[in-house]
Amino acid sequence: MSTPILPTELPPEMHHAVEEAVRLLRAGDIVALPTETVYGLAADALNPAAVAKIFEAKERPTFDPLIVHLPDKKQLDTVADVPEAIQKVVTQLIERFWPGPLTLVLPKKACVPDIVTAGLPSVAVRVSSNPIFKRIIQGLNKPIAAPSANRFGSISPTSSSAVLAELDGRIPLIIDGGACMHGLESTIIKIEPGSPKPLITILRPGPITTEDLKLYGKVQRVTRTVIDEATEAPGQLASHYAPRTPLRLLSKPSDFTPVEGKRYVLMSYRGEEKDGYLDLTDFEEIMVLSPGNGKLPEAAVRFFYILRTLDQIGADEIIAEPMFEHGMGAAMMDKLRRASIKD
Ligand code: TXA
Ligand code: MG
Repeated sequence: MSTPILPTELPPEMHHAVEEAVRLLRAGDIVALPTETVYGLAADALNPAAVAKIFEAKERPTFDPLIVHLPDKKQLDTVADVPEAIQKVVTQLIERFWPGPLTLVLPKKACVPDIVTAGLPSVAVRVSSNPIFKRIIQGLNKPIAAPSANRFGSISPTSSSAVLAELDGRIPLIIDGGACMHGLESTIIKIEPGSPKPLITILRPGPITTEDLKLYGKVQRVTRTVIDEATEAPGQLASHYAPRTPLRLLSKPSDFTPVEGKRYVLMSYRGEEKDGYLDLTDFEEIMVLSPGNGKLPEAAVRFFYILRTLDQIGADEIIAEPMFEHGMGAAMMDKLRRASIKD
């Protein structure tokens, strides 16, 4: 059976959609919800049987832990134990960034089921700023576990139609909240005490950037050499975010030699000729991340949509132009590197 999508544009339909979502979540079922980052596949985080349905629908391996969303930042201590040594910086960070796209990895409380954290002693937690999500979680008044609403390893959905393409018939309901405001998954950090400043480690780059976090501590990016993938960020597997079409991220246009007879499509950052990528070959399709010259934030909003659209063309290769590696560019370049073919 096809999965229904409930609209939320007009107040009466919005109230109906919120009620339906809360009803399903209370009954231990799952539902796809909009957030300000990407669409999430939600379940009552304290109900292990409900959470198990998320793993089943996504075909997600159970070693990959989920993010727990709270109704309100005041409820952090219901799911996490904040160590005394980082209490001050955690308070500063959540005052500044919650509700919003920042996820903190903290020691978990016993009430959080093992299936949520993949047996880890820590829990990843955030508060979403999406108005529809907020109404639903406040109506439920319990923490919600929600990974991105895509099949495991696939591209995150930033619209209800993208969720449908991923999970049609596998989940009972999708709530449509329009296109996601940021378009990239939340930034995930862990925090350790440090002198003179706390140490903030970015486990997954996202909308809250290194520049944003610098005020609160010494910021480091996890690199392959620092990270023990199995324990630090189990979902950050190299193959994550991959389109089905092979993708090649070029650091310079001259790195590319087209193969006769192969079909190529281009993901261009600004669509500017001076960048040198537009005329590399006869592209079957060219899609521009920032056509309005809105730069990196505009590119982020369109990033997964364009990747998904180019993937559907069924070309032999997606060619991706590089972006500036600052601000939200760091997160997009991280995803492109993970998705790209290794020579
Ligand atoms: O923006 C977002 O974060 C979206 C929306 C729906 O909130 N959610 C999301 O969830 O991107 P997901 O499952 O696609 O990515 C969550 C990632 C996991 O793959 C894992 O890397 C990390 O969060 N994670 C979760 N719990 C963790 C933990 N205890 N320690 C380290 N990393 C953890
Ligand atoms: Mg995901």
